[in-house]
Amino acid sequence: MRPTAAPEGAKGLGGGRTVPRHVAIIMDGNGRWAKQRGLPRVAGHRAGAEAVRRALQAAADHGVEVLTLYAFSSENWRRSAEEISDLTSLMRFYLERELRTLEKESIRLKLIGDYSAFGPELVDRLEKAVERTAKNSRLTLVVALNYGSRAEIAAAARKLAAKVAAGDLGASELDETHIEQELQTHGLPELDLLIRSSGEVRLSNFLLWQAAYAELLFLDTLWPDFDEKAFADALDRFASRQRRFGGR
Ligand code: FPP
Repeated sequence: MRPTAAPEGAKGLGGGRTVPRHVAIIMDGNGRWAKQRGLPRVAGHRAGAEAVRRALQAAADHGVEVLTLYAFSSENWRRSAEEISDLTSLMRFYLERELRTLEKESIRLKLIGDYSAFGPELVDRLEKAVERTAKNSRLTLVVALNYGSRAEIAAAARKLAAKVAAGDLGASELDETHIEQELQTHGLPELDLLIRSSGEVRLSNFLLWQAAYAELLFLDTLWPDFDEKAFADALDRFASRQRRFGGR
């Protein structure tokens, strides 16, 4: 592993942050990457999973605290049964293979989204991996599975409505903090940088609340081509934007 680029964690020379604490990525373009090569879509997802490994390593090396990845959106169920099965098999395979890396590199796994939809066997494996890595502290890898931001916010609203109905919370007291506390990302540092690969300029129902103040970076790179250099470039662009608005 390369030495951490910012040994102080995240401080720039002027005391401002140059390394984002929390980076999220919408990994897009696996299908197009495969198509360009005349390969089946699953080959794109396989190459995409290798890019996940590189991004994880790069995040750890640069001293990023949290890396959140959009691995499966609630809209992805609209894909063919074959592709869904390929994606879940890949997840199972990588979970098995990478658990050792997570432990070795002190990476904590956290899940967001309604991952119960993936069935008891995969849920069991996922939860065991979460438990086994719970005390790791170098980096938190948040994997969004069957995640949708509007559903997350609606679930938070339901919980708060129940508290109001039970008389535990006054309707007029309800503010942003209460909503934030009910989101699945509660307890994580504020999202600093959101990257989307493959040239699409959309948030696609990902971390809508959390992205309120994040820097947004849309890259033309297809996800399977995303490598250590692409990650370092993204951090550079984040740092230069931070410097430009250095008063914050
Ligand atoms: C988008 O590409 C990507 C996905 C739907 C899923 C992301 C999955 C991986 C990176 C692989 C497995 C994940 C893990 C965590 C091991 P797309 O198929 O929408 O690409 P396209 O827009 O070019 O068709």
